[in-house]
Formats: sequence, C-alpha cells, structure tokens
Amino acid sequence: MWHKDNKTVQHLSPQTSASKLAAVFTLGVFSLLTACGGASTSAPVTPAADVPVVALSAPAALGEKIFKDASLSASGKMSCATCHDPANAHAQTNDLSVQLGGANLDIPGFRAVPSLRYLNLTPAFFFAADGTPTGGFTRDGRAQSLAQQAERPFLAPHEMANLDKADVVAKLQRAAYVSEFKTVFGNAIFVDSDTAFERLQFALQQYQKEDSAFHPYDAKYDRFLAGKAMLNEAELRGLALFNNPAKGNCAACHTSSKGADGASPLFTDFTYDNLGVPRNPAIPATADAAYFDLGLCGPDRTDLSARSDLCGAFKVPSLRNVATRKVFFHNGRFTSLRDAVSFYVRRDTNPEEWYPLVSDGTVLKFNDLPAAYATNVNTTEVPYNRQRGMAAALSPAEVEDVIKFLGSLSDGYKN
Ligand code: HEC
Ligand code: HEC
Repeated sequence: MWHKDNKTVQHLSPQTSASKLAAVFTLGVFSLLTACGGASTSAPVTPAADVPVVALSAPAALGEKIFKDASLSASGKMSCATCHDPANAHAQTNDLSVQLGGANLDIPGFRAVPSLRYLNLTPAFFFAADGTPTGGFTRDGRAQSLAQQAERPFLAPHEMANLDKADVVAKLQRAAYVSEFKTVFGNAIFVDSDTAFERLQFALQQYQKEDSAFHPYDAKYDRFLAGKAMLNEAELRGLALFNNPAKGNCAACHTSSKGADGASPLFTDFTYDNLGVPRNPAIPATADAAYFDLGLCGPDRTDLSARSDLCGAFKVPSLRNVATRKVFFHNGRFTSLRDAVSFYVRRDTNPEEWYPLVSDGTVLKFNDLPAAYATNVNTTEVPYNRQRGMAAALSPAEVEDVIKFLGSLSDGYKN
C-alpha cells in the first residue's frame, strides 16, 4: 500500500526534502512570472515566505478587494472571506460541518472549510519517486495552483453559484474597483471575459501569496524556535509526545522542526493519508447511502478514479492555527480538538467510541468508506497501529498535553 512507503519520505534527510521543495518553489515562481508575462503589470512578484511584505503588488491589492467582495456571488452576500474569515485564520467561523451557499444561501456543501494560512509553499500535485501523492490545492489536491483553485468557488452551485465566468466578469465590471482592474490589467481587459476571469484568479493568488497575514509565522512556537519565548511544561511535554515516533508520531506527517535551510515548519509534509474518519451524518449528502467522498479517487477529483488504492486519502493539513478551528477533518466530523486527537489514539483500541454498532453488536469501523476500500485505511503506523485491548498510544492526560502544544501554533502570539 502506498501509505506504508509513504513514510520513507519522512526519513529523507531534511536537507533533501528542503532543497526539493525549494526547487519546486522556484519553479512555481518561474511559471508564475511566465504566466503574467503578457500582462501590462510591472508589479513585482514577491515570493518571500517569512519575510514580512510591506506593500502588496498592484494585482495583490486588487486580489484583496476581490477576496472580500460579496457582490461577486449569486446571493450578493458571499465572498471568499465569508468562509475564509481573515479574523479566524482564514477559515470558517461557525461550527457547521459544511457551509450553505447558492443564490439563497441554502445549498449545503460537501467538505469542511480549510484554513488558507501557510499555503504559499504548497507545491503543485505530483507523485514522488516512491509513488507518494504529494502537494496540490483543495483536500484532494486537484487544483495545481492558488490561481487555478480560485475558479471553483465562484462557479460551484453550493458556494458563490455564478452561472459561468462571464457572469462573474459582468459583476466585476460593476464593482467599485473596476477602473483599478483596468489600470492594472489593461483597458482592453474586458474584451474577452475568459482573459478577465484569468486575471481575477491571478489577483487572488497574488493576494494570498504576498499578504503576510496568510503566513505571519508569529505563533508562540515560532518564538520558541527562535529562542525568544519558552513553552510551558505542558506544552513541552506535548511537543515531545507529538514528535516521539513511539507515542504520538504526529511529526511523521505534520512536520514540526525547521528545515536544513532554517525554514519554519509548516506542520504538513504535503502528503495524503487515509485516517478512516467516521461518516458525518450532519452532511446532507450522506443521507444517500451510496454517497462517499473518497478524496483523491473522487468524486470531485476525476483523474485518479482508477486508483482504488488511493480511495479515502485526503491531504495532510497544516496544524498551524488548528486550535482556532470549530470543525476537524475533511468532513468536519469532530467539533473539538480533544475528540480529533483522541480519535487518533483510540480509533482501534476503542472503536465503539467513534463508529456505529450494527445489529449483531459489532462495531462498523471505517463506515465512511465502501467496504472494498476499508483496507486502504492506515492501520500500520503509530499511533493507529493498535487493536482492542491494547493501550492507546496516548493516555487521556497525554492527549491534553498534545492539545496544549497545538495551542502554541496559533498565529498572533503576544508575550
Ligand atoms: C461557501 C464557503 C466557501 C467560499 C465562499 C470559498 N471557499 Fe475556499 N474552500 C471552501 C471549502 C469547503 C474548501 C475545501 C474544498 C475541497 O477540498 O474540495 C475550500 C478550499 C479552498 C482552498 C484550498 C485550500 C487547501 O488547503 O488547499 C483555497 C486556496 C480557497 N478555498 C480559496 C478560496 C477563494 C480565493 C475563494 C473566493 C473566490 C473561496 N475560497 C471561497 C469553502 C469556501
Ligand atoms: C500518517 C500521517 C499522519 C499522522 C501520523 C498524523 N496525522 Fe493528523 N492528519 C493527517 C491527515 C491525512 C489529516 C486529514 C484527514 C482528513 O481530512 O480526513 C490529518 C488531520 C489532522 C487534524 C485535523 C486538522 C483539521 O484542519 O481539520 C488534526 C487535529 C491532526 N491531524 C492532529 C494529529 C495529531 C495530534 C497527530 C499525532 C497524534 C497526528 N495528527 C498524526 C495525517 C496524519
């Protein structure tokens, strides 16, 4: 199974993975420069990650206006910021499993809203040499860049629900900042609505890449790594459990240490895994027993539908700001960090705490996967390599320490 090999990636020297990433990132910047070569913008592209950006380029400044503009939706009430609130780590503020969109804000979505923080170093989707799926945007990696990703929310019937790109561009032409859009992208930009829409996607990407509000690196843990703040005892115990391969083993996927080049950890290795998260009946689509969200193998993503070994795998999210989340995992099944972390360590020792009982009294484990894909669930790696009757990888007190540590990953720490 791919996820067994998966972790060999972890054992590459930090240097290898860091330089690999640096290469990917440089490539990203290059293609981005090429992409905007024809535009009339002379604004600088600022790829800096942890360097605070003082002023946004002209496309990025436009991107901010677009990001917050509810008039670009069918309802007139929904913008990117509605679901990705800058005041809540660019994630949802309510505790709904899925948000309601569409013209009347009554059409439910299918996945929980991810935070948009720290996505600027995510590489485009690729299979690593050992076959590990890596990178990409959205929870199944189907968008290759932030710009490409920006198309979907405008057109998805359960989100901003515009009819087509031309519909979005028509609304854009009525926006207060339309003259600015023309100044940046040329007076003839609205001659072709596909081109105008592409510039809008580009502007949104630049905003997310350039504005340091998306990647401030100012959590208590960042200060700790810089030697400028001390974690308290519970946080330190939590960090040790998080890193310990025989205990939490969380760092195997949620990278917690600096790269060889000094780069701050993102708490994701950009890979995918199948956790066997329980089905969430709060998502209306699950009323249909035949409905399954299988991540990499579909239904939203279509190019890997033949890869049944990847069914049920979702992207490893960054754990930065995880303590500010109201719902957890791709389907928002859990509403507390305690449940999310406890699930990891008690999934196999105490499955009755997480899954429904069937009539003969047995527990229906991995009930959000068709039976044929149950074997895709990762059951070999710490902490989810246990069985009933065994001790959980973390005791309840240790889970509390891990939660305290995760609290040190929230942006905006003040001494
Ligand atoms: C109705 C709520 C909603 C709105 C409005 C919305 N999003 Fe999202 N966003 C989501 C959800 C849900 C996902 C996860 C989708 C998936 O995995 O398929 C997501 C995913 C993303 C991602 C990928 C994150 C990752 O981890 O790879 C980006 C980037 C993003 N949205 C940007 C935007 C932008 C830009 C806009 C405005 C044009 C926007 N979103 C509008 C709900 C929303
Ligand atoms: C083998 C890889 C792997 C390991 C080890 C791992 N995780 Fe995860 N983690 C994931 C993946 C994949 C997801 C997303 C799953 C989904 O959405 O269905 C995730 C999601 C999460 C989430 C939910 C975040 C959100 O935004 O909804 C939390 C919290 C979390 N992990 C904490 C931990 C902790 C704590 C540990 C150690 C006890 C750990 N993880 C170990 C792969 C891993």
